[in-house]
Amino acid sequence: MSPHASARPTVRLLFVCLGNICRSPIAEGLAREKAAERAAGAGVRIETDSAGTGSWHVGHSPDQRMQATARGHDVDISDLRARRVTPADFHRFDYIFAMDGQNLKDLQAMRPDGSHAKLSLFLEVLPETKRGDAPEVPDPYYGEEDGFEQVYSLVDRAAEALIDNILKDSG
Ligand code: 4NP
Repeated sequence: MSPHASARPTVRLLFVCLGNICRSPIAEGLAREKAAERAAGAGVRIETDSAGTGSWHVGHSPDQRMQATARGHDVDISDLRARRVTPADFHRFDYIFAMDGQNLKDLQAMRPDGSHAKLSLFLEVLPETKRGDAPEVPDPYYGEEDGFEQVYSLVDRAAEALIDNILKDSG
């Protein structure tokens, strides 16, 4: 290991949706992939995780439709398993990204005093987002099949913008 490796700052990212089987796993998978491709040579380590505000799917793999959409873009998220977000996450992560407004409200309600995580809607990272907009990643779970492709495309652009910002900030 290089003598400088441990001095590299680590940025910890948590992506949160309702079930942790559709939107937040693809956000985690894409951020993880972009971080591996782009942050390796930069002076920063990026750690990624995802969680759900609900507990119905704890321990489950991502939804088969989300996995298939990801595979169609050569992205593998089959290793991810759903878990529920906890108050301790607000101490562990630097940034917590909510996929929609209800996720954001639920997270705000559970944030412990004195925690440092910056909490925001994930799509606020997109350059076209204006002040006062509250852009959401739509929940594809009960919708049509093409909803998964739409989620993929939105999340892919947002993950790219997020990694851009982190690399810019780290010099
Ligand atoms: P996600 O989608 O929040 O993007 O993982 C959902 C998954 C499951 C349910 C709702 C949304 N559900 O009601 O079980």
